[in-house]
Amino acid sequence: MNDKIAYARHGNVAVLRLENPPVNALSHAVRGGLMAGMDRAEADTGVRAVLLVGAGRAFIAGADIKEFGKTPLEPHLPDVCNRIEASPLLVVASMHGVSLGGGLEVALSAHYRIAQPDARLGLPEVHLGLIPGAGGTQRLPRVAGVEAALDMITTGRHVMAPEALAMGVIDQIEAGDPEAIGLAYAKALLYEEAARRPVSEMPAPAPVDWDARYAAVLRKGRGQISPAQAVRAVQASVEMPFDAGLKAERAMFRELMETDQRQGMIHAFFAERAVSNLPGLEGIAPRALTGVGVIGGGTMGAGIATAALLSGLRVCLIERDTAVAEAARGRISANLAGALKRGKISQEQQDAMLDHALVLATDYAALKDADLVIEAVFEEMATKKTVFKQLDKVCKPGAVLATNTSYLDVNEIAAGTSRAGDVIGLHFFSPAHVMKLLEVVVTDQTTPDVVATGFALGKRLGKVAVRAGVCDGFIGNRILNTYRSAADHMVLDGASPFQIDAALADFGFAMGPFAMADLAGLDIAWAMRKRRAPHLDSRARVGKYADRLCEAGHFGQKTGAGFYTYEQGQRVGTPNPDVMSLIEAERAARGITPRDFTDAEITRRYMAAMANEAARVVGEGIARRPLDVDMVLLFGYGFPRFWGGPLKWADLLGLPALLADVERFAQEDVFFWEPAPLLQQLVSEGRNFDDLNKAG
Ligand code: 3HC
Ligand code: NAI
Repeated sequence: MNDKIAYARHGNVAVLRLENPPVNALSHAVRGGLMAGMDRAEADTGVRAVLLVGAGRAFIAGADIKEFGKTPLEPHLPDVCNRIEASPLLVVASMHGVSLGGGLEVALSAHYRIAQPDARLGLPEVHLGLIPGAGGTQRLPRVAGVEAALDMITTGRHVMAPEALAMGVIDQIEAGDPEAIGLAYAKALLYEEAARRPVSEMPAPAPVDWDARYAAVLRKGRGQISPAQAVRAVQASVEMPFDAGLKAERAMFRELMETDQRQGMIHAFFAERAVSNLPGLEGIAPRALTGVGVIGGGTMGAGIATAALLSGLRVCLIERDTAVAEAARGRISANLAGALKRGKISQEQQDAMLDHALVLATDYAALKDADLVIEAVFEEMATKKTVFKQLDKVCKPGAVLATNTSYLDVNEIAAGTSRAGDVIGLHFFSPAHVMKLLEVVVTDQTTPDVVATGFALGKRLGKVAVRAGVCDGFIGNRILNTYRSAADHMVLDGASPFQIDAALADFGFAMGPFAMADLAGLDIAWAMRKRRAPHLDSRARVGKYADRLCEAGHFGQKTGAGFYTYEQGQRVGTPNPDVMSLIEAERAARGITPRDFTDAEITRRYMAAMANEAARVVGEGIARRPLDVDMVLLFGYGFPRFWGGPLKWADLLGLPALLADVERFAQEDVFFWEPAPLLQQLVSEGRNFDDLNKAG
């Protein structure tokens, strides 16, 4: 035995209690302890049953992810599971909190399973770039059938105990102390003389059309391998004897363990948790938040107000006049109706939010009690400054004053108030009540407790909050501008927007840059190009074909045409036939002879531009750590999670190869492709971005 597994004897039942906080991950010591615990129970005269139970808040959250990538040490988890299942004693698992991955696999090797009503079960390995590797793909289909197993394993979705009971994954649900109900259940089974019931001895389930399933899952995963591989593993459970199926599963698991996708996904898992642990903010208490103000109830203001209402905050929204305020109420109401339809809130909650928690006003005096105010008016410095002057007058001392600006200088906005320390950027993404990202933009003067308040708000709203410094576009939009320019240059030089979008969708992006521009509205980028034009460096290459589309009134999805044309109400378009002639005319006017691009070259250039700018953003301290950039791109820009983020992608490619690309491209356009100093430095030191993450 060891200190991770406690052994206790209750009459003829031995209890093996996992004690590996916080979530009883199956570390090497836990696996060893389980083996020893089974040996001891079997040698303990009079013991007829074993109860497996977890201490603390979970049964078992799965294999210990921190051990992945290191040399696996014996006993391996599949052997532990087989050892448990093969025991001559009756084995019962009592599940509470989560039973995930290896945790569910351990439970499936017990002979009977009882769970708390609020227990959550799942095989989420695909979210780590893996498949279950300790019998999950072989045992789950035997107890729940192929359809249910494919659903759970390929999506990684968690199921609650009642659904698990209906699926046949667990045998009973009961509320109470997990150890007490587990013991009572084990004793009742012994009393009934229930037989051992090894899942491996159950008959194999019926087959389905495996090739069709494989293709469908591969398509849905946009290039992610592990969910499709899971189909093959479940197929093995049907077509092979249990032991051979287990071996096939293990071989696939080991293969996936060696992939870049597994590394990318695990980076994302840990980075998502590390991103809000900001160095320097430890021990700093946020300011209290009960009521927030929102200025402007357009696209963003209405979304932000919705997010705040959904998190239980009171909201006072200021608009220019009553008619616009009513339109804002309509937008918020429609957003909440969506939440109601998706089952996120009840009708009563929706009514309470609209009738009591939300106040609309045109007079700034209504904000006198607000703890935090978020401005979301037009993207014009003069308008923002006027708003902040009024806020400075009416808000109580200590209220946090935030701007949702996409690009404007938050230092300048803060300087127009008498309380610059209270001013911060809170950059939401559209739709603000859906998108998970929140950039917390810290000025030269923002005080640490105001930063902590920004992070606390993010947490309350269920967002992934990332600290950003002040610059044009902060982290995300600044990098976006660069990689969009790279796409623009490729169009000028011979690629079509449609080829670029397709190549990037193949790489795993939710959408390519041209489809994305159509979605966001081409007018937004057009306005920005016009604003920037007078300040543009003469060496910068900027295509004009998108301006021509806008001049013709084509702003993308909202007008029915942009780079693509859209049938009424459709979100997926077909290439707009006019686009290529606009592009060809521009190439001719610029004297460019178009050349062919392969999809691989498109991806390489796009990613190199993104990673190089990301390196600059980290080097300048706009992002504190590489992982901060990775999380911004993942949660705000549809970056494929299985690559972990642009800087994890860069690490996986190898920084010398990335720098070589950038230097090669710089031979054509030295202005655009200037290598980031941090990239050069890391290459010369033989280090990578993850080394910087580890340094904090
Ligand atoms: N291994 C190691 N550490 C883990 C872990 C795991 N499986 N699961 C969670 N942790 C750690 C987290 O990193 C975090 O550490 P920190 O406090 O140092 O940041 C701590 O436990 C608490 O986790 P959360 O902050 O995420 O707490 P929540 O309550 O929000 O969520 C959870 C708990 C639902 C268990 C969530 O952490 C989770 O989803 N974990 C991953 C579960 C998983 O993917 N399991 C499958 C593993 S792969 C496997 O089992 C392979 C097998 O088939 C062979
Ligand atoms: P919008 O035009 O939809 O809404 C702006 C709203 O502000 C309008 O309803 C207008 O009536 C109101 N308004 C203007 N001046 C006001 C004043 N003085 N007092 C009260 N209300 C006033 O604009 P949108 O898209 O919501 O953008 C708002 C801000 O959010 C901008 O700074 C924009 O850059 C930023 N942003 C926009 C994103 C987007 O995708 N639309 C994403 C992230 C940030």
